[in-house]
Amino acid sequence: MENVKLVIDDMLTNQLTPIRVTTPDMTLMPENLAAWYAVDPYRPQYHFSAAQNWINDPNGLIQWKGHYHLFYQHHPYSPAWGPMHWGHAISTNLIHWQHLPIAMYPEETAQAAEDKSGIFSGSAVDDNGTLTLLYTNFTDLTFHPDAIAETQALATSTDGVNFVKYAGNPVIARPPARASAGFRDPKVWQDTDGLWKMVLGSGDGGKGNVHLYRSPDLRQWTYLGVLFEGDGTTGKMWECPDLFPVGDQYVLIVSINEEKFQGVRYFAGAYRDNQFFPEKNGLLDVGPDFYAPQSCLDDQGRRIVIGWMERWGGAMPTQAGNWAGAMSLPREVFVRPDGTVATRPVAEVRSLRKTIAPLYHVDKLTGTPDMPNILAQITGDTLEIGATIRIPDPQMTAFELAMRQAPDGSEKLVLQYQGQDQALTLDRNSAGIGDRGTYSAPLALSSDNTIELHLYLDRSSLEVFANDGQLAATTRFYPHWQESLGLALTSTGGSIMVQSLDIWELRSIWE
Ligand code: FRU
Repeated sequence: MENVKLVIDDMLTNQLTPIRVTTPDMTLMPENLAAWYAVDPYRPQYHFSAAQNWINDPNGLIQWKGHYHLFYQHHPYSPAWGPMHWGHAISTNLIHWQHLPIAMYPEETAQAAEDKSGIFSGSAVDDNGTLTLLYTNFTDLTFHPDAIAETQALATSTDGVNFVKYAGNPVIARPPARASAGFRDPKVWQDTDGLWKMVLGSGDGGKGNVHLYRSPDLRQWTYLGVLFEGDGTTGKMWECPDLFPVGDQYVLIVSINEEKFQGVRYFAGAYRDNQFFPEKNGLLDVGPDFYAPQSCLDDQGRRIVIGWMERWGGAMPTQAGNWAGAMSLPREVFVRPDGTVATRPVAEVRSLRKTIAPLYHVDKLTGTPDMPNILAQITGDTLEIGATIRIPDPQMTAFELAMRQAPDGSEKLVLQYQGQDQALTLDRNSAGIGDRGTYSAPLALSSDNTIELHLYLDRSSLEVFANDGQLAATTRFYPHWQESLGLALTSTGGSIMVQSLDIWELRSIWE
């Protein structure tokens, strides 16, 4: 008898408690937003998400009359994609957001509950004091077989809250030639010639392409042709194009959603004579969950970009909590000395640290493969981690940083650096109940054999920035156990020199 009891006690002490997501108590909303967001174990605390229901692409990003405006693709009646609305939030600092009423509803022509017609992605400009939105009006051909599926339309606001759709819509009624794969996501800006310009995403003949228009007044648009088209290796259709200057170059970004690859590619080069001539191209983020980013220029001259921190077709266990989708941290775009395009979180993100002094700090610590985990005492799921690590013998050494690790090690999200291949791998194969897979990308050691990592862990998301822009990688993941809060830094093969390692706890943006 005694023995049996001991065994059961033992089982109980080793037992982990599953995370259960329940539909939140609606009475908490919206008076206590911080509590509303805190209660859900998967809910990012310092990344934007809607209070409830589905979101995808950021839209209409603009700094206008003292506020940053973030609109977003939103289905306000369920945590799944549906007829798209534009949700809306504003901020004075890119960190703390205030939810505003839905800015745009689908046209009132929907005939059936299944009719997916709605307001697709688009952008915002300041037209002499009037906040003007240009967007794709999507019509579901199953219910409206004679319509044109994707046309471009305009809406305006003088107060930044209430929007009126233009009576003369659509402003572009049909796709041009060579836009057979879709025709959507207008990004508009005022060009150096004083005219409004618009890029639109499409594809033709197996190659993604971007179409260019001009207008004197945002209402009459003249087609200028294909700005740029891929060579067939970079996707058949390009969504959410964005063209902007950074330094003395132009950067074009496009989002690609295909079976083999989903992500964001940038091209950097020259924009002249209504065409784009790239010299470099690469991925803006090598992780699985950064999509459809949109940029704006702010009054500090920064090119800010925010992406959807999710992926099409991804597992979304948060739906049980009645929400899905979050935004990446706002990032500043810059061009590195070698001409590649990179992003880093805006400086304002530092204001989220709960304390000036880090929760944990070490410097000049040698880690050998037989050493116990130096982070064994640290737990947390809402952290910023900065580390500079030197690998004296790269040929021999790999190191690994595990986050949200279960006490028995059975569950963890792993970031691994292989000195020999000089590659960083994000491994979510044991990270919980979400999608699995590994994501690797080259990450060169600096001349003194160091790499520098800056990580943002926010409950069910991780954003990785390495070597100030050499690489960014974003992932969502969903731990199974409440106790999966541990961190572990370990090396194999050879030793590592932790030049410095700092960990801060970050606060909720809804406080
Ligand atoms: C990108 C996208 C856009 C489209 C929107 C629909 O994620 O597919 O091309 O406008 O989402 O919600």
